[in-house]
Amino acid sequence: MAVSVLVGVQWGDEGKGKIIDVLTADAGMVIRFQGGNNAGHTVEIGDEKFVLHLIPSGILRKDTDCVIANGLVVDPIGLMDEMKALTGRGIDVSKLQLSCRCHLIMPWHKLLDAYNENKAAAGKKIGTTKRGIGPAYAAKANRTGIRGLEILHKDRFEKLFREGAEDYNRTYGPLGAEPLDADKAWAEMAIAIDYLKPYVKDTVVTIHQAVKEGKHLLLEGAQGAFLDIDHGTYPFVTSSNTTSGGACTGTGLPPKAVTEVWGVLKAYMTRVGEGPFPTELHDDLGKYLQDKGGEFGATTGRPRRCGWLDLVASKYSCMINGVDYLAVTKLDVLDDLDEIKLCTGYRIDGKVTTDFPADVSDMARIEPVYESMPGWKTSTVEARTMDDLPENARKYLKRVAEFLDAKIGIISVGPRRDQTFRV
Ligand code: IMP
Repeated sequence: MAVSVLVGVQWGDEGKGKIIDVLTADAGMVIRFQGGNNAGHTVEIGDEKFVLHLIPSGILRKDTDCVIANGLVVDPIGLMDEMKALTGRGIDVSKLQLSCRCHLIMPWHKLLDAYNENKAAAGKKIGTTKRGIGPAYAAKANRTGIRGLEILHKDRFEKLFREGAEDYNRTYGPLGAEPLDADKAWAEMAIAIDYLKPYVKDTVVTIHQAVKEGKHLLLEGAQGAFLDIDHGTYPFVTSSNTTSGGACTGTGLPPKAVTEVWGVLKAYMTRVGEGPFPTELHDDLGKYLQDKGGEFGATTGRPRRCGWLDLVASKYSCMINGVDYLAVTKLDVLDDLDEIKLCTGYRIDGKVTTDFPADVSDMARIEPVYESMPGWKTSTVEARTMDDLPENARKYLKRVAEFLDAKIGIISVGPRRDQTFRV
């Protein structure tokens, strides 16, 4: 019996959906433990492409139970739409469970997200996905949130909804925020909660039951370590714990239940939204990685900023996540490059360090120290074993694993399910 946690070790968009899909082949239950529909996990099976925002990637495998656990903030309308879209494509969503303890994203949370972003001065904008994630987690911490269990009590829910909408209009209306039409918004919400009612469960109980039955559990993280509210490039972060510790609080599983941690690492670095990015490439090469890697947000369509693999930052994130195995994705995007760089140090005010700074103003002054490696100039998209890879690609991977002190367990060389192999 294994309880595997899978997390992104960069700024999200590492290709977690695909790796989860591969690992799900032998999992009995896949669980999302934090975040919300700010995520966009892409899985390509044959000619079909699925982008999942809230629903665990395990939904695409027959006989895999799927759980949206207590650590998430869930937009009921977004979830209903996602479930209906999957049903329309022949996917069985009956095996999905929604935690009664998760927090619900309300329409005013989305309006507040937009309001906060619009009013923020230049340099202070986070570049959020505007899905209401931050305001919903803030309501949770303020103890004014509405939880999944209210779906089971429609009258109570309506009362809380109308109070929340009125409070928003009263507080933010005079400040110029977009007003909320509570009647219209409730009518839309009521449809979603009727639809979701059969799926609401005490998932702490069902998850522990699955452990007792000896099922293999896969805990699917969203976003990445540097977007973690505690460990990321604060304040340019999301509002949840995206690192492996969040998998325990976000599901109700104790730390000792976790048997392995997978870290998904893209062969180069990307970031969407604002915030520091020491190895960002502002030149043609950055644009090349963006085009070749298809680096456009799966949720918002925004172009992702691109740069060289930052081993200093990645080492920090492997440390706080306790990564046992790395899944290296998008290796093929580097296939045509003459030279590949790896950042192995940060020069800040003339001094070289391998520590990852806590202060974003220090990060802004980083000059990356690079190690250069020759490219392999050969296509890797057909590789299915380590031996199929060109020698320079193997050397690149060896250097990465050595620096990060983690084993490489999976390599991905293209978007399709079959373009992935275990090492
Ligand atoms: P929020 O999660 O919408 O509040 O956005 C906060 C920051 O996290 C912004 O920089 C977003 O672009 C980023 N972010 C949120 N979700 C994802 C994701 O799934 N992938 C990459 N970046 C994300």
